[in-house]
Amino acid sequence: MSKVSVIGGAGFVGQIVAFGLTKSEVVDEVVLVDIIEDKPQGIGLDMRESTPIYGSDVNIYGTNDYSQMAGSDIVVVTAGMPRKPGMDRMDLLKVNVNICNAVVSQIKQYAPNAIIIYVANPVDVLTYAAKEISGFPAHKVFGMAGVLDTARYRAFIAMEANVSTKDIRAMVLGGHGDSMVPLPRYTSIGGLPLSHFLSEEKIEAIVKRTRTGGGEIVSLLKTGSAYYAPGMAVAEMVEAIVRDQKRVLPVVAYLDNKYGFSDVYAGAPVILGRNGVEKVLEIDLTEEEMRAYSESISHVKAGVEDVKTLLRE
Ligand code: NAI
Ligand code: 2OP
Repeated sequence: MSKVSVIGGAGFVGQIVAFGLTKSEVVDEVVLVDIIEDKPQGIGLDMRESTPIYGSDVNIYGTNDYSQMAGSDIVVVTAGMPRKPGMDRMDLLKVNVNICNAVVSQIKQYAPNAIIIYVANPVDVLTYAAKEISGFPAHKVFGMAGVLDTARYRAFIAMEANVSTKDIRAMVLGGHGDSMVPLPRYTSIGGLPLSHFLSEEKIEAIVKRTRTGGGEIVSLLKTGSAYYAPGMAVAEMVEAIVRDQKRVLPVVAYLDNKYGFSDVYAGAPVILGRNGVEKVLEIDLTEEEMRAYSESISHVKAGVEDVKTLLRE
């Protein structure tokens, strides 16, 4: 038996997470929790009504009642607010830390043994807040970003090199933002180095596009941000945990004396299995890669300091 609750489940990303898990029958039960009256119930029922078409027995439903997440093995948090006109970065962070506080307090009450996968942005910083608020061990509180960022990177490589996405392996480090660090040196196609397929200029252009991949979708959608790739990225992480797959994936993980960083959450390669983040992997980095990683971490650290201030208020 495995049960997953998605808080913010009536939103775009939450819906894709739920649909991905329901269609592939990765879990037995999916609960969509949201504050909008009737909407999670409607979405949950619509998805339940779709299950006979593809032959899934997942019990999916929506609710406004947090107590329905009792017994969840995993709680995914996509509940967040986008920036509104007139809001500065700190105003927005305050709103999202307040949502984090409200949501994580409910997780503590109703699903105290759950693994938390944080998704709402700024994800690195809010995952830190979720760990502080929950008091859960760090290996059970982590965030989704790198699986999405590597998916974008791999899609761009497949498009440019005209090869199957299935054969592309890649790693991205750092915070989920323009300073993230895709690693061409650790990218391969069918076991062959990326440089066999693409010129340095093409690789550099793909790295740049990956860093700004979220913004590219926002500018095309006009309202809102990406949800298909993010939702499927979360579903992949859930599957790794529920099936104890020991996948090696980039995750927003707690760095405690890793790569010289401590007391911060950021993208790093981990082994993901039944216990959550079972190991944070430290790989060899060149001076240049390490400089880029440090720069990215320094941006996240500034946000963490803001969170600490907000949590003290
Ligand atoms: P959305 O606005 O469609 O969904 C958010 C949902 O959260 C809404 O349905 C809202 O009613 C709900 N919500 C707000 N406060 C709540 C509370 N206290 N309890 C329960 N539900 C609550 O937004 P979307 O597109 O689904 O994105 C969700 C978040 O995920 C955003 O913060 C977005 O920036 C972030 N995101 C992060 C990614 C990543 O790589 N980490 C990728 C894509 C999105
Ligand atoms: C993305 O990368 C907005 O974080 C979101 O699409």
